[in-house]
Amino acid sequence: PGIVVLISGSGTNLQALIDAAADGRIHGEIRAVISNRPEVAGLDRARRADIPAQVINHRDFPDRGTFDQALMAAIDRHQPDLVVLAGFMRVLTPAFVAHYEGRLINIHPSLLPDFRGLHTHERALEAGVQQHGCSIHFVNTELDGGPVILQASVPVLPDDTPQTLAARVQQQEHQAYPQVVRWFCQGRLTLRNGQVWFDEQ
Ligand code: GRF
Repeated sequence: PGIVVLISGSGTNLQALIDAAADGRIHGEIRAVISNRPEVAGLDRARRADIPAQVINHRDFPDRGTFDQALMAAIDRHQPDLVVLAGFMRVLTPAFVAHYEGRLINIHPSLLPDFRGLHTHERALEAGVQQHGCSIHFVNTELDGGPVILQASVPVLPDDTPQTLAARVQQQEHQAYPQVVRWFCQGRLTLRNGQVWFDEQ
């Protein structure tokens, strides 16, 4: 299967996927990496792995709709079976979401449905939760509201800062995201009537 990864930043989740594809955990090909922000570290990670890397800067477009149309055209040139949002920090239009229904996944740094949106680690600490983590979900039009595929949790420790907590969550992200992409590429993971279907085989 072909994969396109969308990023906006450092790309540590992208790196985890690159590594998993390289060592055979993911039987799929990352055909392209696209960033909406220029000069981010994730683009270098792609280039180092000989993956075509492209910038489509949302600031070059008058509105969300035209940006998303350009993004779709760039993605579809690679004919991906799966589009992976890995720290991609733009809200996508319903037209975009509909176009990739069932083959568009995102990772979010909280145990959904808690803490949708931004600044999840700060908010988890403020709320005083004992468990925090990450969720991987199919994308629908609800922001961070699509059906959850896999979650991984970590304890919140008494001395945690948003940074130490984020680091602990990210370790889990880097395990969980390759696992989900592996399942998808094996054909074990599908979206049916808005629900996640997992084929135990
Ligand atoms: C991750 O924490 C992810 O959950 C969130 O943005 C961060 C991206 O980090 N959506 P990276 O670019 O993969 O290093």
